[in-house]
Amino acid sequence: MSLIIKSGTLITASQTFTADLLVEGEKISQVGADLDAPGATIINASGKLVMPGGVDPHTHFNLPMFATVSSDDHYTGHKAAAFGGTTTAIDFVPQDAGSLSESVELWHDRADSLAAIDFSFHMNITRLDAAVEAEIPRLLEMGIASVKVFSAYNGRLRLQDGEIFRLMRIARQHGLLTMLHAENGDVIDILASEALAAGYTTPEWHARTRPAWGAVEAVLRGAALAAQAQAPLYIVHMNAAGEADMLQYAREKGLPIMGETCPQYLFFTEEHLRRPDGAKWICSPPMRTAQDNERLWQALADGTIQTIGTDHCPFFYDGSKPILYEGQPVAIPGKELGAHDFTKIPNGLPGVGDRLPILWTFGVGSGKLTPNQFVALNSTNPARIFGLYPRKGSLLPGADADIVIWDPNRRLTYGIAHAQHRTDYNLYEGWELAGFPEKVFLRGQLIVDGERWLGHAGMGRYLKREPGAQAI
Ligand code: URP
Ligand code: ZN
Ligand code: ZN
Repeated sequence: MSLIIKSGTLITASQTFTADLLVEGEKISQVGADLDAPGATIINASGKLVMPGGVDPHTHFNLPMFATVSSDDHYTGHKAAAFGGTTTAIDFVPQDAGSLSESVELWHDRADSLAAIDFSFHMNITRLDAAVEAEIPRLLEMGIASVKVFSAYNGRLRLQDGEIFRLMRIARQHGLLTMLHAENGDVIDILASEALAAGYTTPEWHARTRPAWGAVEAVLRGAALAAQAQAPLYIVHMNAAGEADMLQYAREKGLPIMGETCPQYLFFTEEHLRRPDGAKWICSPPMRTAQDNERLWQALADGTIQTIGTDHCPFFYDGSKPILYEGQPVAIPGKELGAHDFTKIPNGLPGVGDRLPILWTFGVGSGKLTPNQFVALNSTNPARIFGLYPRKGSLLPGADADIVIWDPNRRLTYGIAHAQHRTDYNLYEGWELAGFPEKVFLRGQLIVDGERWLGHAGMGRYLKREPGAQAI
C-alpha cells in the first residue's frame, strides 16, 4: 500500500521546502518533486504544512499517585496525543515491583494492549542498592536507555547525592542517559510542614513551599555531579529562569547537559494557584513567575534548552463527577483529594494533546520560535536524545511514516471540546488557536482525520532504544 502526500510545505528541524512525500507500507520511501507510484492514494497537501509526528519525551499514563491514579491510561492518553499531532510518547516506569525487570514487565502489562501510538519507557530509579546497581545494564535488553532520578520527594522517590553520583557512573559506563528531577527535597519538607502547622492549606502553598532556589541549586548540583561522574545529564521539566542560567553555565563549560521544559512553565505562573480552582495548576515543580516564563522562551530560542515535553499526568479537578468518555461515564478521584491540604492534591496536569497546537499558535505564531525550532524541540531533538532518530522525528527516506498534515489556517477556540484527554478540564480553555493538525499518520496508517479517530488500542508499538544516544 502506498500513499503520496503531494505539494505540502515540509518542515523539518533544519529546512522548509515544498515537496511530495511517498509512503510505502510503514516507511517514508521518497521525498522529492512530482513523485509518482502506480496505485498510490494521493493526498493533496497544497497550502498545508507537513511535519514529523511529535515525540513527547515525558508522560505519566496510569500512574498511581497518593490515593488515586493519573486519569489517562495508555489508550486514552495516546489517543489524546495523536489528536494533538504526537505519534510517540516516552513514559516513566515506577520502581515499584521488586526488581527492575519486574517493574518493567508490570508497565508492559499496563501499556502494551492499550497503546495507540508508538511508545518507549524511561526507568525511574528511586531505590539504589547492590542488586539494583547490578540490574541497571539489563535495562538495555528491555530497550530502556534512560533512567530518571529525583532530588525531591523525600522518603518516597528521592535518591541521596552519593546515590545519584553512583548511578550516573553506572549509567555512563553502559551508555544510558540519566535524567534529573531537580528540586531540594529537604527544604520542601521543612517548608511544607511549617505551612500546614500554621494552617495554610490552599494550593498556592504548593508553590510557596517549593521555592525556585531549590530547583536552581539542584540543577547546578546535578550538573556538578554529572561532571564528576563524566556522565551526560538531561534535566526534566525546567521551570525557573535560574535553572536555565545554570544549564547555560554548564553547557558553556562544555558539559553534555541538556534540558527540557514544558508548556505549563511557559504560559502560567504561581498566580494561577491563587485562583479558586488553583488545584488545576498543581504540578511539581510548580509554576513560577512571568520573568521565569520569558527566560525559558529565550532558552528555547537560543538553544540552551533542547526539548519540550509535557509531563502529562492528568487528574480530574472534581473526580466525584463523571464525564462521558467514548460514551461511557468515567470518574476518577482527583484534585478534590487535597481540598483541605495542598500536600494531598495529586501532582500533575493534562497536556499531551495540547503541546503542539498551543506552541504553534503561541510560540511560532507569536514569533518566539521558528517553525523549524518548533519541529526540533517537539520532535527531532527528543528523538535524537533518546535514541529514536532518524526512525522518529524526521521526514527522511527510511523513517517511520509518522506524519502530521497541519492546517495553518484552521482557527478554533480551544479547550475541553477539542482536547481529547480523559479529564474534566483543560488549562487552555477558551484560547484562540490559528493552526491545528488535520491528518495524523502512524507508520503510514491514518489515525486522525479531522475530528475522526481511526486508531485503536494495541496498534502502538513498543520502541526498544539503543544505548549511547548522542548528547546535543
Ligand atoms: O507533578 C508532576 N509533574 N507529576 C509527575 C511526576 C514528576 O515528577 O514528573
Ligand atoms: Zn519529575
Ligand atoms: Zn514527570
